[in-house]
Amino acid sequence: MIESLRQEIDALQQQAAAELDQASSTEACEAIRIRYLGRSGRINPLMQKLKDVPKEQKAEAGKLLNGLKQNLQKNIEQALKNYKQAEQDAQLLKEAVDVTLPGRSLPLGRLHPITQTLYELYGIFAEMGFQVYQTREVESDEMNFQMLNIPPDHPARDMHDTFYTKTPGVVLRTHTSPGQIRLMHERCPGAIRAILPGKCYRFEQTDASHEWMFYQIEGLAVGQHITLADLKGTLTAFVHRMFGAERKVQFRCSYFPFTEPSMEVAMSDKRGGWLEILGSGMVHPVVLKNGGYDPDKYSGFAFGMGVERIAMLKYGIDDIRQFYGNDLRFLTQF
Ligand code: FA5
Repeated sequence: MIESLRQEIDALQQQAAAELDQASSTEACEAIRIRYLGRSGRINPLMQKLKDVPKEQKAEAGKLLNGLKQNLQKNIEQALKNYKQAEQDAQLLKEAVDVTLPGRSLPLGRLHPITQTLYELYGIFAEMGFQVYQTREVESDEMNFQMLNIPPDHPARDMHDTFYTKTPGVVLRTHTSPGQIRLMHERCPGAIRAILPGKCYRFEQTDASHEWMFYQIEGLAVGQHITLADLKGTLTAFVHRMFGAERKVQFRCSYFPFTEPSMEVAMSDKRGGWLEILGSGMVHPVVLKNGGYDPDKYSGFAFGMGVERIAMLKYGIDDIRQFYGNDLRFLTQF
């Protein structure tokens, strides 16, 4: 009896070993485990036979059967462990990241060319002692026109086609000059040397050199001994710092209701022509008075330049509309 059991055990062991040899994955090993050691696996019928073994051989038969079970368990566990490791290694290899590869760079934002130009202008004027003073974009008709010596029926109003708001007497500022009055009110009777940058709005037909929204930088100096020579010196120094010392500066007679005398400033271009870049003049006595200063004691100069025009000259851009077209091919060049 015990002999035939021993033979069956050997046969089963060999078969299991052969099947394990063939198996090449954790799944296959798991299937073998179920086939042999599962509840209705192949070991069970052998276990059933134990009860028919004669009493004196029972201990030995039990030992043999337990040995078979433990052996199978051990071999299958080992095979499972091996394949699990191999499968994990293969998975890791497949998902491996090459940390030595260069990264993909994210596109970085940058400052708008007009912002860059503004910063450059602030730097140049700061070195000449000008502070930056920010004032409002939504202005009263009084500040934008009347306090600047432009009465309601003055022909100079045609120079500024204006965006009027629904509130009577409230406009989008057409130039940065109303800031002159606000700054004088704040500083009077102290001396002033400041630039006032910001957006201006005009109801205009856009073309290569005109936008309906554009930046200006206003300059204002007020004191007891300010002369036209200071204005000319300041603007000449500015052009030389911004565009190079070889540029020539031309001062031409002009007219603004808020300055007397008034001058337009042009600079030489590379083709030998002249380009107008700003309006300027000595602050009109009426405007000084409106700002709180006594025009018999105080004098001042003021100028207003178009920042886009300066940027166009600096970077050789021939159409102002490119600045606000939001075309990244244009913007990323700066
Ligand atoms: C004025 O606006 C005056 N306030 C300037 C001034 C200030 C004179 C202080 C005297 C004393 P004007 O309208 O010329 O002037 O505009 C000044 C500059 O703003 C122009 O030379 C131009 O560079 C720019 N500018 C005017 N209109 C536009 C526009 N539609 N688009 C782009 N830039 C403009």
